[in-house]
Amino acid sequence: MTMMKTSTTSLLIQGGTVVRADGEKTMDVLVTNGEIRGLGLGLGKTEGMEIIDAKGLLVMPGLIDCHVHFREPGLEHKATMESESAAAYAGGVTTVCEMPNTVPPTVSVNALQDKVRRSQNLRVDMRFFFGATEMHHLEELKQLFTDASLAPLRARCCGLKLYLDHSTGDQKAPKGVIDEAFRVCAELKIPVVCHCEDTEMNAAAQRGLSGRSQDIAIHSEMRPPESEEKSIKEALALAKKYGTHLHVAHLSTKGGVDLIRAAKKSGITVTCEVAPHHLLMTIDDYTKLGPLAKMNPPLRTKEHQDALWAGIADGTIDCVSTDHAPHTLQEKLAAATPASPLAAPSGVPGVETMLSLLMSVASGEWPNPSEIADYGLRKNSQSEIRNPKFAIVDIVRLCFENPNHIFNVGKRGIVEGAPADLILVDPKKKWVITGKELHSKCGWTPYEGWKALGEVVRVIHS
Ligand code: DOR
Ligand code: ZN
Repeated sequence: MTMMKTSTTSLLIQGGTVVRADGEKTMDVLVTNGEIRGLGLGLGKTEGMEIIDAKGLLVMPGLIDCHVHFREPGLEHKATMESESAAAYAGGVTTVCEMPNTVPPTVSVNALQDKVRRSQNLRVDMRFFFGATEMHHLEELKQLFTDASLAPLRARCCGLKLYLDHSTGDQKAPKGVIDEAFRVCAELKIPVVCHCEDTEMNAAAQRGLSGRSQDIAIHSEMRPPESEEKSIKEALALAKKYGTHLHVAHLSTKGGVDLIRAAKKSGITVTCEVAPHHLLMTIDDYTKLGPLAKMNPPLRTKEHQDALWAGIADGTIDCVSTDHAPHTLQEKLAAATPASPLAAPSGVPGVETMLSLLMSVASGEWPNPSEIADYGLRKNSQSEIRNPKFAIVDIVRLCFENPNHIFNVGKRGIVEGAPADLILVDPKKKWVITGKELHSKCGWTPYEGWKALGEVVRVIHS
């Protein structure tokens, strides 16, 4: 008889503060062979066990960023799955849901299969949104969700993403496809994520501004708040018509928050997310950042920013996700000549900085240095932003529990028997955000020089 020799690896995380959506508690966490095998105080040590002294550290579930663009395949000069998953990992994000606007776009079973194959050996768990710009893409989606042999593949698909107006990658869906997509997603019981902006309103705003100087700040006027609001209204009407679960991507306006708050009350199945750049920056940041602050939907005024925080405080906003959208610095700056700053591509990176920026706010430290400078001018809204109700547990709710549930990610969090998917965070660690030191291939950040509080010191992800 041959004896099989099995080796056990054990890790004891001692005395950390475990943060779950229902609260914080000091306890030890025992991880054996990649699984959480014990939770509680005074767990015994055994020989050969690795011990981590986690006193003063937070033990949080690995975060889920339900909106990223990793650019592979086809746009690897901007970013790759490997480079961006390193950025996610460093920022405590161990699961990402990736968008379909790659080259080719993820609009077929084959394209999804290719992405899943490419993502096999990454440090983070990648899930993918399907896209649709033509009717036959919806046929592919139906096949994915009904063909028994595709079950392992559909487990990696978190839903359908629709662009209701043009943005990077030209994935705008025509009206007929949008309507049918809502019907199909209701039938398949999967969420449809919408980038809500209205083509006609944006086009009209652009026509109205045609004589104006090409100042980059005009980007926010070319895609006005009313455009997002109108588009959300239409998407909500479709969700109601078919009983579809609508998830509104990167909500940026007060009107949008109000519409979703009312829709939730009326029983429509709608969820939504907000991005850190809309929570932490306003149109004032164009002055310093120029084309680096260009994204879709664009930066808004303080009034909108405050409404987003209020939406977080009252539970209208379900998730914070980054819309991590790396473009090279050269693309951002070279395309944006003084004559045509608006030629810069839209999008900012953010997956590595989300946790620390949110932790800064939860600790009462507003991280945007330019807004601190004009603190006196906006005392009232500033105190609203520094909402004492925003706490570390809210980060777990917004960046783990809710996206896990909404997109059926299947993570179990910090419970006995679950695969270990944890991050250890030092909440007191102060650091200065520097693009060159971050892991994204793009090498820049809109938060350059910002002081952040809270740093990931270890990721345990089997
Ligand atoms: O700013 C944006 N960048 N908005 C989008 O809708 C797409 C994204 C990208 O892929 O660059
Ligand atoms: Zn996006």
